[in-house]
Amino acid sequence: MAGLALVTGGSSGIGLALSKQLAARGYRLAWVSLDQDELDRAKAELQKDAPNLVIDTLALDLSAADAPDRVFQWANGLSPDGLDLLVNNAGLGVYGDSATLPVSAEQTMIDVNIKALHALTRAFLPAMEARDGGTIINVASNSAFIPAPRLAVYAATKAFVHHYSDALQQELAHAGSPVRVMTVCPSAVSDTPFKSRAAMDRVRTFASFTATTADEVAQDIVEGLERGARRVVTGAAMRRALWLMKLTPAPLLRWMTGRETLEM
Ligand SMILES: NC(=O)c1ccc[n+]([C@@H]2O[C@H](COP(=O)([O-])OP(=O)(O)OC[C@H]3O[C@@H](n4cnc5c(N)ncnc54)[C@H](OP(=O)(O)O)[C@@H]3O)[C@@H](O)[C@H]2O)c1
Repeated sequence: MAGLALVTGGSSGIGLALSKQLAARGYRLAWVSLDQDELDRAKAELQKDAPNLVIDTLALDLSAADAPDRVFQWANGLSPDGLDLLVNNAGLGVYGDSATLPVSAEQTMIDVNIKALHALTRAFLPAMEARDGGTIINVASNSAFIPAPRLAVYAATKAFVHHYSDALQQELAHAGSPVRVMTVCPSAVSDTPFKSRAAMDRVRTFASFTATTADEVAQDIVEGLERGARRVVTGAAMRRALWLMKLTPAPLLRWMTGRETLEM
């Protein structure tokens, strides 16, 4: 029997699709998202098919400085045995010119995508080591691989997630830690509210050959979890594209990225 999985942003998009997969594998779920109505709606959706499924919810703004600490206290109250799985999935993008976007909007991205993810990782890691096991899944993006104009801060936050999580995993493996960190890099996901919320509906990448669905991303994540992967790039087309990117000269790659994100 699997244990407790805490999924931030579990009530929407990738987090919800992944939660369905985890529930099917016997995990009990704990969700932290911004909106209580959204949490209630998603919980009812999952429990319609699985009435006995336990889902605890906490509506909280993860951009608040004290939010990670509140999540940690709340999760400890749910399970004295601690977490089996922490999925740092909550995140947001904001599309626009970096010279004119509201600074506060950019800072919220930094607070949620970087600061909350980092603080939650640091809060739960010692407890997982003390209980001799656990996995932390940090959701980055294919935007982590290359700077993206008009998504400058978003792509930079995801580069942080990718580099930080990968380096932390190497340190833990070197030290013989029982805890694993898995980095997930989804390509554009066409069927979550993310792109509308980010004002990116017309950005080409969501219709390109590398685009995936939330269900495909969730399937790739659980397969990665089960085979002990350190990094998962989701979507077979994106995995092929990544190999091509490695062979592509940098100026051409920058031009191609600009075509995706600058021209609408
Ligand atoms: N969609 C894509 O194309 C794509 C591609 C690569 C990576 N990703 C990454 O995948 C992750 C999930 O994205 P998604 O596509 O599933 O988007 P989504 O459907 O918009 O889900 C984002 C989740 O994060 C939560 N969240 C956002 N801001 C929050 C805050 N301040 N406090 C607490 N919770 C907050 C949302 O809660 P509410 O719904 O309650 O507001 C929602 O549950 C994100 O980290 C995103 O950067 C997405």
